[in-house]
Amino acid sequence: MLNLKVLVAYSTRTNNTKIIAEAIYGEIEFKKEIRKIEELDNLDGYELIFFGFPIESYGPNQEVKDFLKEHSANKKIALFITHGSPEYSDFLAPWLEESKKCLDGSTELLGLFNCQGDVAQFVIDSMSKSDSPTLRYFAQESSKIKGQPDETRINKAKDFANEILNKVI
Ligand SMILES: Cc1cc2nc3c(=O)[nH]c(=O)nc-3n(C[C@H](O)[C@H](O)[C@H](O)COP(=O)(O)O)c2cc1C
Repeated sequence: MLNLKVLVAYSTRTNNTKIIAEAIYGEIEFKKEIRKIEELDNLDGYELIFFGFPIESYGPNQEVKDFLKEHSANKKIALFITHGSPEYSDFLAPWLEESKKCLDGSTELLGLFNCQGDVAQFVIDSMSKSDSPTLRYFAQESSKIKGQPDETRINKAKDFANEILNKVI
């Protein structure tokens, strides 16, 4: 499918997801665009969409949820997600499930990439003051992360992009 038009769409608060979006974008050798979701009215006109966002408070934020609910019907979408928790965390599975549930029933989900990203200091500060032991634990663990997504994770995102592209060409 040589006339493939690909969109990389993403939401980001502290740029980790943007780093992954740009890595994916760099691998695409078709007609392509990269946009923050605030710049998009819809997802029409693309044969393939890479759609990325961070996990915030155990799932996608409301803006991402609303956007996907409204615009993902009948689209081919590959999700990419960043989160402060490590990839092996037991907490992660339900948050990723919650993310998939934002897609319309008719969406073709081609794959999901997720990786750890640094957690902003304001989030760590707020969690460390919480009454919840779980949030205080997250604060402690988050303060140990430095420089994520690193080169290894960025390279995994590039591999993911190529895996998805190979599915549609
Ligand atoms: C308000 C807020 C809530 C967050 N909640 C979670 C969470 O529930 N679980 C988690 O693993 N990371 C959480 N994080 C960390 C982000 O998912 C992580 O830093 C992500 O890489 C940020 O991506 P961004 O830089 O593209 O915004 C939260 C970050 C923010 C700002």
